[in-house]
Amino acid sequence: MTEPNSLPGIHVERRALLQLPALGAALALPRPGARTDESAVAFDAYTESADSLAAAHLEGGRIDPDVYLHHLAALGSRLDVGSVPRPELGDFGGYEPAIGIRPVARGKVFVIMWRLEPGAFFPPHNHTPGYVYSLCLEGACWVRHFEIDGEAPAPGTEGKFQMRKTQARLLRPGIGTSLTPERDNIHTFKAGPEGALGIDINTSLPSEGEDWSMIEYEEGKREGFDKRYEARWIGKPGR
Ligand SMILES: [Fe+2]
Repeated sequence: MTEPNSLPGIHVERRALLQLPALGAALALPRPGARTDESAVAFDAYTESADSLAAAHLEGGRIDPDVYLHHLAALGSRLDVGSVPRPELGDFGGYEPAIGIRPVARGKVFVIMWRLEPGAFFPPHNHTPGYVYSLCLEGACWVRHFEIDGEAPAPGTEGKFQMRKTQARLLRPGIGTSLTPERDNIHTFKAGPEGALGIDINTSLPSEGEDWSMIEYEEGKREGFDKRYEARWIGKPGR
C-alpha cells in the first residue's frame, strides 16, 4: 500500500522513495550553481518539511535511513540560511574557546543551533540511536565521524573501546554532513579561525532510547587502510 506524503511544494509517494529518478524529480533539486529564489526554502518551511519526512520515516515503515538523510540533505541544500533565526545561545560545557547551543525548533525533528568560537573543539560523542544532519550556516569547521569497532561498554560507563574514523568533511555555509544509527554515529567538530555557526537536525528513535556520552581518545595505529583510536566514555559535560 502506498500512502502519499505531502510536503510544502513537494509531493512524494513513499513507494517512489526508492526510485531515484522519481525522487529527484519530486524534490525538484536545483542544479549546482543554478539556485534561484524560487528554489530557496525558508526555515519554517524547512522544519515543516523535515517533520513530514521524519513522520514518513518513523511512522511509515522505516524507509532506508540513508534515503531519509539524503532527503534532509536535499532540503538543506535549498535552505535560505538568512531565514534561520539567530537567537542568543547558551554556553555548553564550559569549553574554551566557547561553544554555544540552543534549540530552535522542536517537532518530530529537533533542531539545535550551535556556535563554535574560533578554534573551538566539540569533543566526539555518540548519537545512538539517532539521525543527525549537521548543516553549516556561517564560518567553517571540520567535522569528523567515527564508528565503534567491535564491542564497547554502554555509553557513559567505564572501560575502553576501539573506534575508527569513517569520514571527515570541511563544512562551510550550505555544506552538511550526516550520521545514522548504522553509520558514522560518533562525530566531533573543530572550528576554523573564523568560528562556525550551524544547526543539527536531530531525529530520535524514542522507543530505542540509549544514552550518549562524550568520548576521550588517543591516536591509534594504522591497521591496513583503517586508523584505530583507543577511546573511553567520559560522560556528559556540565552545562
Ligand atoms: Fe552531536
